[in-house]
Amino acid sequence: MERLQKVLAHAGIASRRKSEELILAGRVKVNGEIVRELGKKVGAGDYIEVDGKPIREEKKIYILLNKPVGYLSTVDDPRGRRTVLDLLADVGGRVYPVGRLDYDTSGLLLLTNDGELTYKLTHPSFEVPKTYLVEVEGKPGRELERLEKGIILEDGLTAPARVERVRTKGNRTFFHLTIHEGRNRQVRRMCAALGYPVKSLKRIRFAYLELGGLPEGQYRYLTEKEIKFLQGLG
Ligand code: URA
Repeated sequence: MERLQKVLAHAGIASRRKSEELILAGRVKVNGEIVRELGKKVGAGDYIEVDGKPIREEKKIYILLNKPVGYLSTVDDPRGRRTVLDLLADVGGRVYPVGRLDYDTSGLLLLTNDGELTYKLTHPSFEVPKTYLVEVEGKPGRELERLEKGIILEDGLTAPARVERVRTKGNRTFFHLTIHEGRNRQVRRMCAALGYPVKSLKRIRFAYLELGGLPEGQYRYLTEKEIKFLQGLG
């Protein structure tokens, strides 16, 4: 942590003395709030603006989280429910989820502050594949092929999907479903339309990244190789 005027000076904004004047004049914001006090200490994760312009490029952060059920994938909730950000320690900046998982869905969720990559990974035209481990009640058997061909929902026919690794246990059926659309509650609605409501849903793969053995509620940073790979998609 360093004093704000020193950080401004090091960023080449102005001399230390001139930087103090900028602060006193109310022209400097830290994390969206005007700071007029000269002793203020700031660190690498703080977002500093002078006259509304960021003083440095925000460091890009890429996180892969294994989201548990019972967390919202938003950055805050007016009703005060837990969000995925509650699962992160100080990661060195502000990040937000890439797309969404339902409150009652678990599994792979990326978080980043890279807007360009978020756009690419969430825009339907890029057709990023997402694989879910689906548990339904009952034994649908060959009916699952209807999920692959496309199923009519209230917002139209779903694109072809892929069903793999079907297995049954008692009166439950488990399978992997890969889709590349991202409609609201899509997997739940597809299975319900088939007559087999989802009992549990976990995303195990997103844009070719895998959850692997990452425990629930834990996260890791993406590797340089993974970041490059995602940026090269589409
Ligand atoms: N489909 C759903 O129904 N829910 C999710 O969270 C993700 C995909």
